[in-house]
Amino acid sequence: MVEVIFATPGLPLDKKFTIEPCNAPSGYKKHPKHTQNTTLHNNSPLYFQPLAMSIPSSPSEFHSGSPLPEACQPHRAETPPIRSYVRRQGKMTTGQRRALAEEAHRWVVPFEGKPLSLSTLFENSHPVVLEIGFGMGETTQAIAQNQPEVNFLGIEVYTAGIGSLLNRINQANLGNIRIIQHDAVEVLEQAIEHSSLDAVHIFFPDPWHKKRHHKRRLIQSGFAALLASRLKPGGILHCATDWEPYAQQMLEVLSDCPLLCNTSEGYSPRPSYRPLTKFESRGLRLGHTVVDLVFSRRLTSPPSQTAS
Ligand SMILES: C[S@@+](CC[C@H](N)C(=O)[O-])C[C@H]1O[C@@H](n2cnc3c(N)ncnc32)[C@H](O)[C@@H]1O
Repeated sequence: MVEVIFATPGLPLDKKFTIEPCNAPSGYKKHPKHTQNTTLHNNSPLYFQPLAMSIPSSPSEFHSGSPLPEACQPHRAETPPIRSYVRRQGKMTTGQRRALAEEAHRWVVPFEGKPLSLSTLFENSHPVVLEIGFGMGETTQAIAQNQPEVNFLGIEVYTAGIGSLLNRINQANLGNIRIIQHDAVEVLEQAIEHSSLDAVHIFFPDPWHKKRHHKRRLIQSGFAALLASRLKPGGILHCATDWEPYAQQMLEVLSDCPLLCNTSEGYSPRPSYRPLTKFESRGLRLGHTVVDLVFSRRLTSPPSQTAS
């Protein structure tokens, strides 16, 4: 067992874990900077310092050197696509309409079905956090405002939600958020490079309560593998939900993904950077339990199933 200090890029260290060695495999030691009283360097998403550099330098090296186990293969075109959302029309406020008309050209990035250069997009090389399904953008704004040295790429399909986040960006004068209005599955598959993200946030994804709709839930094994493959080694996948059966599914699916490692035993306490959302407050009022799940991408490739 190793003791590690946990932090979000750009935020003071706020949590100490004792975890299984997967986050500090042999050949790694705790980064000397990471002590209780310091702040992680913003460009330092790895919380461990490799003693000998064994992290693959490219995704192809990672994949060719060590094929992913079947259970955690990234979502592939031949598997049925996940349709995790409905196109909501929703009435837009005047402010949202105005923001869409006047601000979209500054912050909304067209989806072109080809890899994006994140450093070109943000005009810097700060860490990048991708958020899937930001809704009306209240959490995105709060987190991005607190972390000006971190870039946030928000993916959402709901037009009123995009208008709302654009309004917030304008009012709070934020420069570290970009938005893509498209299906997050396709964005991850086609526009996000392997091993390029410092973190992924998925807060209160649609729970799809009915059994016949469970296939529409975002967190399932193929998609978990896709997410993991886009994280940098040591990068963080943070999910939250107020729907207990979905929480259990998330825990099972993410725990089964060989590229990921749970930073807690089971559910995590809410990290201090995530504020309470509207959905969460409603869930709490209804007596739901809200849980967070915080996984990290392993620093080394998982053992191949085919290796002898
Ligand atoms: C239940 S809401 C949660 C909103 C927000 N995260 C919050 O906590 O308030 C889920 C959001 O995810 C969006 N969404 C679902 N599937 C998506 C996908 N595949 N790509 C982009 N957005 C998606 C929906 O449009 C919806 O706004």
